[in-house]
Amino acid sequence: MLTETPTLLTSRRQLEERIRNRTAAVGIIGLGYVGLPLAVEFAKAGFRVTGIDVSDTKVEQVNRGDSYVLDVQSSDMEELTRSGHLRATSDFSVLAELDTVNICVPTPLRKSKDPDMSYIAAASEQLARYLHPGMLIILESTTYPGTTEEFLLPMLQAGSLEVGRDFFLCFSPERVDPGNPSFRTSNIPKVVGGVTPVCTSLGEMFYQDVLSRVVPVSSSRVAEMVKLLENTFRMTNIAMVNELAIMCSRMSINVWEVIDAAATKPFGFMPFYPGPGLGGHCIPIDPFYLSWKSRQLGMEARFIELAGYINAGMPQFVLDKIQVSLNDHDKPLRGSRVHIMGVAYKRDIDDLRESPALDLIHLLQKRGAIVSYSDPFIHQIHLENIDLEAVPESFAEAADCTVVATDHSGFDYEKLVARAPLIVDCRNSLKGYSSPNVVRL
Ligand SMILES: NC(=O)c1ccc[n+]([C@@H]2O[C@H](COP(=O)([O-])OP(=O)(O)OC[C@H]3O[C@@H](n4cnc5c(N)ncnc54)[C@H](O)[C@@H]3O)[C@@H](O)[C@H]2O)c1
Repeated sequence: MLTETPTLLTSRRQLEERIRNRTAAVGIIGLGYVGLPLAVEFAKAGFRVTGIDVSDTKVEQVNRGDSYVLDVQSSDMEELTRSGHLRATSDFSVLAELDTVNICVPTPLRKSKDPDMSYIAAASEQLARYLHPGMLIILESTTYPGTTEEFLLPMLQAGSLEVGRDFFLCFSPERVDPGNPSFRTSNIPKVVGGVTPVCTSLGEMFYQDVLSRVVPVSSSRVAEMVKLLENTFRMTNIAMVNELAIMCSRMSINVWEVIDAAATKPFGFMPFYPGPGLGGHCIPIDPFYLSWKSRQLGMEARFIELAGYINAGMPQFVLDKIQVSLNDHDKPLRGSRVHIMGVAYKRDIDDLRESPALDLIHLLQKRGAIVSYSDPFIHQIHLENIDLEAVPESFAEAADCTVVATDHSGFDYEKLVARAPLIVDCRNSLKGYSSPNVVRL
């Protein structure tokens, strides 16, 4: 049991008071898809927010009030920077002045599919340097259960300050869904779990006046596992339905019709949809944080491994579908023009990370196809193995095969069906069209 001396109690009470009257100096480390909307939400609520990022470009853009995240309006940012509620810097010494810090840095996988903790480590090193009494630190980056206590805490507690007494440490998973018009940072319930009960209650207090609902849980480990359950749930169900799509294709059954009919069941069923593979920074990656941790404990995460295997095979399945469809039109894949509609990893967003369209383009090019693409959100792709500029949608008319890889709402599907000689639709975007030139996944 920690004893609270009057001075230390004062620093905690002071933090509570500052959170309550919104004078707490709020810091966000990592101003990407997660960190920027969060910074804007707290700034809108009246806190003075400092974003810290290693990217000078992002820092300059924030300070100019210029948004680079689709879900954040530049007009909001301009107003907040003008009023002094939002600023950004790449100078970590500001941490010394901050009362609260949310860590929103990337957590990718290494090539070996092991967690890459280097970003969290770099942010934590800086925090350890500037840690001071009365500071609340909340990790939001998705990670394996135990990270906050086993990885972050030892780095922070190396000095003389004690967690739960001198400073406070929580994990709160970020659940933002970029491009979702109904659910934004502000109205997605926020799960938070602290390393000690005092940490949890401070974390809860921090979010509760700004976000619509806070869900406290008993520990940071539980909070870490919540996020992994959510994403593993999606990843494994998508894999199941992807496998079903392959079965349906063999049996000449329209998998989309099956799912839509099944979804009329008012209980016990939730629809998931097949596609050309998994994309984004979360669903294809996060479950492997869990399987890595399980392996450390001598347990194989078999569902995750199997789902990963099935999902990773989807671009090849689409490639086979394209090849067979072209052959049915007496054309070989080699030398054919294949036009991809949509390369972002999902509808109406500008994020290319882990997009299955990239795997598909790579496979097509390897087989000798001449590939072009249209995407209103992604104007060029310059990667190690792909170098392409976006072209107008009308390229579909001259292509031997067009593939709807991502169903952006701005595409003119009616024109596509009327003019493209052959379309492989991976997203059911052509539902309702029964034209002979349309082939479904
Ligand atoms: N993008 C999503 O939809 C989403 C949703 C839920 C959770 N998450 C999780 O949130 C975390 C952040 O994801 P994101 O999509 O915002 O990533 P991002 O790449 O868009 O943003 C991360 C930011 O952190 C900065 N950064 C990197 N190292 C830093 C350091 N040492 N100090 C300061 N800044 C640093 C980068 O420059 C970048 O601006 C990840 O763990 C991710 O899994 C993402």
